[in-house]
This record gives sequence, structure tokens and C-alpha cells, in this order.
Amino acid sequence: MGPAERAPAERPGYDRIVRGDARRTLDRLAPDSVHLAITSPPYNLKIPYRGYSDDLPRSAYLDWLAGVWRSLYRVLVPGGRFVLNVAPTSIKDFQPIHHDLSRGLRELGYIMRTEIIWYKQTMGRRTAWGSWRSPSNPHIVPSWEYVLVFSKGQWNLVGDRAAIDIGAREFERFSDGFWKIPPERRRHGHPAPFPEELVERLVKFYSYRGNVVLDMFGGTGTVPAVARRLGRHYLYIDSSDEYCRQAFDRVAHVTPPADAPIPSPAWGFDGGRRPPASPSGAAAVQ
Ligand SMILES: C[S@@+](CC[C@H](N)C(=O)[O-])C[C@H]1O[C@@H](n2cnc3c(N)ncnc32)[C@H](O)[C@@H]1O
Repeated sequence: MGPAERAPAERPGYDRIVRGDARRTLDRLAPDSVHLAITSPPYNLKIPYRGYSDDLPRSAYLDWLAGVWRSLYRVLVPGGRFVLNVAPTSIKDFQPIHHDLSRGLRELGYIMRTEIIWYKQTMGRRTAWGSWRSPSNPHIVPSWEYVLVFSKGQWNLVGDRAAIDIGAREFERFSDGFWKIPPERRRHGHPAPFPEELVERLVKFYSYRGNVVLDMFGGTGTVPAVARRLGRHYLYIDSSDEYCRQAFDRVAHVTPPADAPIPSPAWGFDGGRRPPASPSGAAAVQ
């Protein structure tokens, strides 16, 4: 029996694309059932997502996310990891949102483990200099994003040594917390997709084969696609019908390792259905 087959298959909700609200869907999952969550939430920067207003008052935004993180805590296994990707806000209206989020998560009981700097190598496209060659008001351009890492209750994640798939060179490279990875160029019609390489590093570094990897703001499905390719179970949640359909097709086309037969995606829970062709407006847990 391979490591993927030893996953706790009796728990519901794996290898699914769920069209639904992040928090309400997390509240339906079994406790202690997810080993690694990787997500990049809406940043409240007025980004034009389909079917979601990315423009809440700041305190309402932070309260909303805190509710999602509270629900996530319950479903993580002891030592389960939560990786939160946060982009710096705009130069003009700079807000230290990564500080607010990491403080909020620690207040909820998460252990903060580290902060990885994802250097996006985008300075070539730079235009905003502020006061050029003058100390009067020069701008620092955010050419990086934060990748904040937390764990539940303890540092270590119990797992089978036979289910480790990271090589020695990769381990050395990834444990240097400055990751140079260009941003994703294939946007799949989404304003803010992850690059696969970022997710691949996180999945290999922080989980065992056969573990369950979750993204509750799943977008184009980068996390479940990479998880399946690397022999992990996955769970995808997004409130947009259209992103869910795209993610489903993307994940279905991924080939898992031959010795880790991770299933093709199914819709929702309990025999859930494909979202309707035209968005109904209301996000529904299926
Ligand atoms: C920053 S994007 C995630 C992009 C993703 N990392 C990728 O690689 O494509 C945030 C996503 O959250 C979704 N979203 C917004 N509100 C949501 C909610 N209440 N529940 C679930 N998903 C939500 C949006 O539809 C959007 O796709």
C-alpha cells in the first residue's frame, strides 16, 4: 500500500471542488482533517474578482478573515500548517496588512513559524519612482510578497518517512527563506493566481505524500492542481462559479504520480453538482 492510499479516506471532503463560502464550507469539514492549508485571500484592494466585492471597510475585512482562520483552526490536524500569502498594499495607501493578519492569527492561537519573502523579480517593469534621485519622497516598490507560515498547537507534523518526497538539494534551497520566483504569467482569466513553483515548494517542504492540502480561496485551482500532481489529496473552495469550473478542468487534467492514485476531482460534497452555467449570485455550499 503506497503512502497516498494510507490517507484517512474515511473522512469526507477530499479531492473535491466546492463552490461555496470559505467559512461556511470549513465549518462542514471534519475536525483535525487537513494537514496543510495554503491560500491567498482577497486583499481588499478593489481587485475585480468575479462575483465578490474586494472593497470592505478595513475592520470588517479583518474580522471576516479572522472568522475564516478560526474555522480553519478546527479542521487542521495537530501540527497542521497554514501558509498565508499576502501582498504588500499600494505605495499611495500603504497599510501593513501582513502585520495585522499575523497578529490576528497569533491571537487566535496559531503558532507563527516563519515569514518567507517571495521575491517576484518584477523591478524591470518599474514605473513609480516617486521623487527621482531625491530624498524628498522616493518610493520603495513592493517587488515581493509575504508568505507567512503558522502551525496548530505544535511545531511538528507527524508522518511516515516513506511519504517524504523532498530531495536534499531542494530542502537546502527551500529552507533559505528568500524565494526568487517570477509571478504567474498564465492568468487563466484571474487577476491574482499563484505561480505553481511557489505552491510546489510549499507542498513539498511542509507536507507528506498522501496528506490533505486545502485552499479555501482557491481561484484558478493552483493549489489542488499542484497537490494532485505531487500525490496529495486536495480540497478546493471558491465562491465563484466560473473559477470553480476552471479549477475543476485544470485539476482533472493533472496526472498524479503512478504510485499515488489521487482521484480526479468531484464536485462539492454529498454528490454535489457542477455550478450552473450562469452565476446565480448567491454562493452556495453544495
Ligand atoms: C487572491 S484570489 C486566489 C487566487 C489563487 N491563489 C490562484 O492561484 O488562482 C482570491 C479568491 O477568493 C475568492 N473568494 C472571495 N470571497 C470568497 C468567499 N467568501 N469564500 C470563498 N472564496 C472567496 C475569489 O473568487 C478569488 O478567486
